[in-house]
Amino acid sequence: MEFDELWESLLPVGRDPGTGGYRRYAWTEAEAGCRAWFARSASALGLGTDYDGNGNLWAWWGRPGPGAIATGSHLDSVPDGGAFDGPLGVVSAFAAIGELRRQGFRPTRPVAVAAFTEEEGARFGVACLGSRLLTGAVDPDAARGLTDADGVSLAEAMREAERDPAQLGPDEELLASLDAYVELHIEQGRALAGLDTAVGIAEGIWPHGRWRLEFTGRPDHAGTTRLADRHDPMLPYAATVLAAREAAAGHGALATVSKVVAEPGGANGISSAVRAWLDARAPDQATLDLVVDEVSAAAQAAAREHGVGLEARRESVTPLVAFDPGLRDRLSAVLGAGTPVLPTGAGHDAGVLAARLPTAMLFVRNPTGVSHSPAEYAEPADCQAGVAALAAVLADLAG
Ligand code: GLV
Ligand code: MN
Ligand code: MN
Repeated sequence: MEFDELWESLLPVGRDPGTGGYRRYAWTEAEAGCRAWFARSASALGLGTDYDGNGNLWAWWGRPGPGAIATGSHLDSVPDGGAFDGPLGVVSAFAAIGELRRQGFRPTRPVAVAAFTEEEGARFGVACLGSRLLTGAVDPDAARGLTDADGVSLAEAMREAERDPAQLGPDEELLASLDAYVELHIEQGRALAGLDTAVGIAEGIWPHGRWRLEFTGRPDHAGTTRLADRHDPMLPYAATVLAAREAAAGHGALATVSKVVAEPGGANGISSAVRAWLDARAPDQATLDLVVDEVSAAAQAAAREHGVGLEARRESVTPLVAFDPGLRDRLSAVLGAGTPVLPTGAGHDAGVLAARLPTAMLFVRNPTGVSHSPAEYAEPADCQAGVAALAAVLADLAG
C-alpha cells in the first residue's frame, strides 16, 4: 500500500468529532482500533504482526532474528493530539517497505516495523512506557501498579485487552536482535520550516521529565470561610505555575504546569486537594536540575505559607540523549551532507532505546511547528519526501 492509502485508513480511528483531535490512549478501544489497523497494514504487505510481552507491536519483513533493522514509532496520542505525532513514523515505515518492494529491493537482514505502546504516557503517566519496559528502564511490578485517572491499573487494562501483564519486563533476546532503530517523526518545532528541505536528522534530545505535585488543603465554604482561616491548595498551586515560568525563562529552559485536577471540584468551595503535573526540559542536565529545584523550592515555600501539605513525585525522567554519531553520519551520507541536523526537546522511544542500541531519527518538516494539538500538520509532499528518505535509509542499512 502507498502512503496516502495507509494514512487515510488510519485517520478516522480515535478522532474526537468535536475537537478533531485524537484520543488514542493505551489499551482503550481507540487504541485497539490502531492496533487492528497495524495488523491489517502489515498483512497487506505480507508481514505478520507479533506482540512483545510489553504490548509493543512488531511486524517483520523477513524472519525475526539477529542483525535486524527496526523502524516505526507510536500510535497512541496525547489528549486531543494531532494526526502526525507517532502515526507518521508507523505509516511511513509501512509505506517505505512498500516502496522498497516495488523497487525490487531484497533486504539481507530482517526489517521490523514497531509501534510502541503508551509513548505519550497519557493514560498511565509514564512516557515511553512500552520502550522503557522493553529495555528494563521501568520496573515491571511498578508498571503493573500504575493507574489511570479512573483508578484502573495497567495490569487490569491489559487483561481487559486480553494481554497478560505477567509478561511485562525487559526482553533481552528481542533487544539483542536489533542492530539499529530509526524512527521517523514529524518535527515539533520550526527549524525546517524556513529551509528548502523537507527532512532533517535528529542530533539529540534534551533531558526532560514529569513531576506530579499534590497539594492537600482543607475543604471549606467559599462564601463563609475567612481568608485568614483557609488552607487553600489552589494558592500554592498558582504560585508554582508562575515559579515554573520564571525558572524556565531564567535558565533558557522550558517548564510547564501542563495539567491540573482540583478536588472535589465544587465551584463554591475551597478545594481539598489540587494535583498538578510539571513538565520540565532543558538543554543539559544541570540546567534541568536547577529549574526543577527552583520550582520545588517555590512550591514548598508557598505550601508552607498557606498551611497546605505538598507531596511531589517524579513520574518519568529521560536523561540527555545524543543519538549514535556513526548511525547519524550514515543517514547524512544517504540523504546528503547538507541534511540539517537538529536537537529537540520532545521525548521519543528512540531516545529510550538509545541506551541499548544505535538509534537515529528523521524529522519531517512541520510548517507551523505546532504539535500535541489537532492543528499539527505536514504537507503531503513532505510526508512523501519522508517516506523516500526512510526507504533510502532502510535500503542502506538492510541492503
Ligand atoms: C512526547 O511527545 C513528549 O515529548 O512528551
Ligand atoms: Mn508526542
Ligand atoms: Mn511522538
